[in-house]
Amino acid sequence: MRHKRSDFPEGFLFGTATSAYQIEGHAFGGAGRNHWDDFAATPGNVVRAENGDRACDHYHRFAEDLDLVKAAGLDAYRFSISWARVLPEGTGTPNAEGLDYYDRLTDAMLERGLKPCATLYHWELPSALADKGGWRNRDIAAWFGEFTEIAMKRLGDRMFSVAPINEPWCVAWLSHFMGGHAPGLRDVRAAARAMHHVLLAHGTAIQTMRGLGMSNLGGVFNLEWATPADGTPEAQAAAARYDAIYNRWFLGGVFKGAYPQAALDGLEPHLPAGWQDDFPTIQEPLDWCGLNYYTRKLIAPDATPFPSLKEVEGPLPKTFMDWEIYPQGLEDFLTRTAREYTGDLPLYVTENGMASPDVLVDGAVQDPSRTAFLEDHLDAVQRAIAAGVPVSGYFIWSLLDNYEWALGYEKRFGLVHVDFGTLERTAKSSYHELKSALQS
Ligand code: NOJ
Repeated sequence: MRHKRSDFPEGFLFGTATSAYQIEGHAFGGAGRNHWDDFAATPGNVVRAENGDRACDHYHRFAEDLDLVKAAGLDAYRFSISWARVLPEGTGTPNAEGLDYYDRLTDAMLERGLKPCATLYHWELPSALADKGGWRNRDIAAWFGEFTEIAMKRLGDRMFSVAPINEPWCVAWLSHFMGGHAPGLRDVRAAARAMHHVLLAHGTAIQTMRGLGMSNLGGVFNLEWATPADGTPEAQAAAARYDAIYNRWFLGGVFKGAYPQAALDGLEPHLPAGWQDDFPTIQEPLDWCGLNYYTRKLIAPDATPFPSLKEVEGPLPKTFMDWEIYPQGLEDFLTRTAREYTGDLPLYVTENGMASPDVLVDGAVQDPSRTAFLEDHLDAVQRAIAAGVPVSGYFIWSLLDNYEWALGYEKRFGLVHVDFGTLERTAKSSYHELKSALQS
């Protein structure tokens, strides 16, 4: 790797990220059913109908996995707490085994000198709550507040940082308008409600944690750059709508107490009554802001009010996800987010990485394209820092090859290869490159 730790500011955090359902093995430890179990069980939703029942069996192997994080020289580990593992019915009686597990996991991070960076919702909604309307139901804010309180009363004293919700766009738009993730709806009214309730739940959780005296609380937003596919005003307008729904809705709600007009134009009639009154909760001040960044989209002229329906094949090299590799977007997002939304607040790249078709040959995995991807995006981070943006850390998605949601286990994002038969872990060449960079 061409970077050295000393190229970054003092105290800059390097970390790696995972999420509960993608690695733990949801069948273990008394976890309740969640809507990804249901979604995956419905034919046609997930490649080969794969699910998170066993995943990487991190539930039983977390010590070995955290040893790998430590041995790479990383400072922090971003993980998520499964709602249905803690509260099998979503509310009510906690699963003692689930809370014990996160307790041991947290202590195992601290024993290794790793900073625990928790996410409270990385997409696995308890089925009992999905059955009551899930993110379409305003009560989700209170349900999520209850879960937050139970989980953080137990763990909050040992967290380095906490974010309530991972990637609100995916929770809301991808899952309720595009149908790509659980619950798989294609319904604009459901989507608009989820777009609002996800932020109300975020703010409620922040208030709950402030009430417990916690600090270093943030939000994690997935941003995707939208480039007009041609020079026409129609393409520009379509790209602006895409940007509004994908990016600006969530940053605008949390940091400005306003939704972008380009998104309201289509969504306002579907929002719940009195939505403006929720901004004091949604805007509960944060201590940091996290950006998950992977790619950009080329957006064609499109007369429909909603984006993502007409994307154009991009000309840039692509990852195994078929996502264009566009590091410039990371610099531009860091700069734009600080300038327009977050000011002096510390920014973290809470996810960045790529999938590649990695294979184990003679006990080793060569993934030079991942190393190059990380280098090019670290360059973008450095350019943003040089321009004065307060970027405080960079987390690689992901530690392990894992369950890539509707795409199952085929899309490998890990620094560490997982054999999904034997569950054996093998550090890839990118892991070794990263390790020497962090030690230099
Ligand atoms: C973002 C999500 O947070 C994570 O769950 C997913 O695996 C990666 N992107 C890659 O798609």
